[in-house]
Amino acid sequence: MASSLAGANVAILGATGAVGRELIAVLRERAPDLGTLTCYASARGGKRTLEVDGQEVTVLPYARDAITPGTLVFMAVSGDFSRSEAPALVEQGAVVIDNSSAFRYEPEVPLVVPEVNAEAIGDARLIANPNCTTAILVPALSALHKEFGLKRVIVSTYQAASGAGAAGIEELREGAAKELAGEPLPAEAFVHPLAFNVIPHIDSFQENGYTREEMKVVWEGRKILGLPELPMSCTAVRVPTLRAHAEAVTVETDRPCSAEEARRLLAQAEGVVVVDEALANRYPMPLTATGKDPVEVGRIRQSLVFGENGIDFFLVGDQLRKGAALNAVQVAEVVASRGALARAA
Ligand SMILES: NC(=O)c1ccc[n+]([C@@H]2O[C@H](COP(=O)([O-])OP(=O)(O)OC[C@H]3O[C@@H](n4cnc5c(N)ncnc54)[C@H](OP(=O)(O)O)[C@@H]3O)[C@@H](O)[C@H]2O)c1
Repeated sequence: MASSLAGANVAILGATGAVGRELIAVLRERAPDLGTLTCYASARGGKRTLEVDGQEVTVLPYARDAITPGTLVFMAVSGDFSRSEAPALVEQGAVVIDNSSAFRYEPEVPLVVPEVNAEAIGDARLIANPNCTTAILVPALSALHKEFGLKRVIVSTYQAASGAGAAGIEELREGAAKELAGEPLPAEAFVHPLAFNVIPHIDSFQENGYTREEMKVVWEGRKILGLPELPMSCTAVRVPTLRAHAEAVTVETDRPCSAEEARRLLAQAEGVVVVDEALANRYPMPLTATGKDPVEVGRIRQSLVFGENGIDFFLVGDQLRKGAALNAVQVAEVVASRGALARAA
């Protein structure tokens, strides 16, 4: 059966990065019948060849005028670069799905996790993909909100090195090897050495004492859930895992919510898989969630603080998949279904 992106002309900007490579892999899986897939990175590396899952991909230096009207463009580059390029690409007829934070807080730009707010896409030609930590959190929160009403949400995160891109992965690998060899550890991609450490500092500190990463979860969570006043807070911590972010979540609900009801509801929620067999030592972990599409949710229990109106749970999602590439492709599938893309002849 044809995929919903069959025949579409697609470009990836930032194809050599952590998100860009994952976009190539997800598109191969979900849309093997694309019309064209053209991969771009900076001019610094010139034309090159990249290997993704054993297959070679040609990467070209990016040039705006190579993007033709009706092309679906995935941007997996810095916010500054997205801000300078995305409006021009939309102006010349492309549809842009942007992974950076450049446009997420602009009221007219939809910020979308399709399981939660696909309808927000409307006829937009520039759509923002959320921060990875938020994208893996909101499918579970949305399901709980529909049934029990969210009153307050408190999140603590355990975020993998690849959240800082290809450089983060490299620095953790190098740091681990250097620690074992008794050599000084690098600290360029992160503000401190990450190997054998945890760092409660991701992105810049804000005036309120929270980091920007923590505030992204609040700002973006509220926007996607359509709950602009929802009391939320987050503590975001970098941990020395390679891939998949984990989150400990506490919710207070408007209506009573037993752990059993929450488990049943989450098991039916789109984009979520319940992994919650404590006695068999089965619960969400980065090692089991890596490379998977659904977010693992487990350790679901009645809150000792909020009693019958609250639960605690733990989730792990592959932040390069649902937190970035997969979500972007799911958004593209919705866009394609409204006929906004050019198809190859
Ligand atoms: N990593 C995650 O888990 C994650 C999750 C969600 C969202 N995001 C966001 O997604 C974006 C990409 O993140 P990443 O982690 O993939 O970063 P990354 O690994 O550092 O990759 C950055 C990519 O941007 C390309 N690039 C840089 N300057 C360019 C230019 N002038 N023209 C064209 N391409 C250029 C780089 O190409 P070269 O090889 O030529 O340098 C590389 O392909 C960021 O905005 C990030 O915040 C990341």
